[in-house]
Amino acid sequence: MPKLTVEGAGTYDVPQGKRLVLALEEEAGIDQLHACGGNARCTTCRVEFVSGEPAKMTAAEKAVLAARGLTGIRLSCQIACDSDMAVRAISRFAGSGRVDAGKKPEAEIQPQPVEWVEK
Ligand code: FES
Repeated sequence: MPKLTVEGAGTYDVPQGKRLVLALEEEAGIDQLHACGGNARCTTCRVEFVSGEPAKMTAAEKAVLAARGLTGIRLSCQIACDSDMAVRAISRFAGSGRVDAGKKPEAEIQPQPVEWVEK
């Protein structure tokens, strides 16, 4: 079972392959934003990796990060917890001014089909 460490929060066991965005909410209890519902559109599910950053990313994540000129972050809705990882939760509901954190993401990475590319 992979371990997810969230800086300043703790370390949590996560079911193999669980979406990171859901593990942040459900295992770590983080008020993680996911405004687009986990569809690689909004980038509010962003995290910074401390360790264990996956070498591959979905084509959808790569495209949206490039389109917005974002570097140094990853989209937690596009990452499966398949090994130990440590992150900083940098995009949270508290203080965001939003009415909610966003629609609950599906259990599986969206959009389908998932195409994996090099980071
Ligand atoms: S990009 Fe919107 S929740 Fe991940």
